[in-house]
Amino acid sequence: MTDLFEEKAEDWDRRDVVRELSEAIGSAMVEQVPFAPDMSVMDFGAGTGLITAQVAPRVGQMVGVDTSPAMLEKLAAKPELQSRVETVCQDILEQPLARTFDAIVSAMALHHVEDTERLIETFARHLKPGGWLALADLDTEDGTFHPEDVEGVYHHGFDRKALGERLERHGFEDVRFLTAHTVQREDGTYPVFLVTARKSAD
Ligand SMILES: C[S@@+](CC[C@H](N)C(=O)[O-])C[C@H]1O[C@@H](n2cnc3c(N)ncnc32)[C@H](O)[C@@H]1O
Repeated sequence: MTDLFEEKAEDWDRRDVVRELSEAIGSAMVEQVPFAPDMSVMDFGAGTGLITAQVAPRVGQMVGVDTSPAMLEKLAAKPELQSRVETVCQDILEQPLARTFDAIVSAMALHHVEDTERLIETFARHLKPGGWLALADLDTEDGTFHPEDVEGVYHHGFDRKALGERLERHGFEDVRFLTAHTVQREDGTYPVFLVTARKSAD
């Protein structure tokens, strides 16, 4: 599989937009999800670990899942994450893990996965009953957030109502949206939502 983030990995953490966005999303996740030391958490599309780093100190086990070896290499090289975080370089839509989690978090990865329906199914199968889901991504945008020729972008953001209904159809309850951050650029304004939900306990 081509690593679409190979070049981006090099300076990912130095980009102001990325840093501001991940700080805001991580803070919102920590406010909304009651992370605790007895919890195991997956960061889906963990990248270089900017969200992982904010959640890992609060929980017992943390797994960073990503399909980009270059991004995960950066995560694994961070001394504060080395002993705390397991990395898995695998497409879990194709090859699910043989374990379940108390929570799944994910930031800005949804729009890189073509089949959202299957992704939500994948999240549901990797969560324990009552488990938490916390997903952040762009609200519906006009397609200008990424450069026109970029590969691997399948969605120009998401409509909150449609995504909320999809989550409910897959057995998620207490679906709540908030605006975690707004990216302000000369060429546009791009709100980013955080949706939290819980997998039904039945
Ligand atoms: C925009 S980056 C966000 C990285 C990180 N969450 C952050 O906020 O800095 C999207 C990440 O999703 C990963 N990704 C794309 N498709 C994926 C898939 N099917 N499974 C896991 N990760 C995927 C990419 O490799 C990339 O690291």
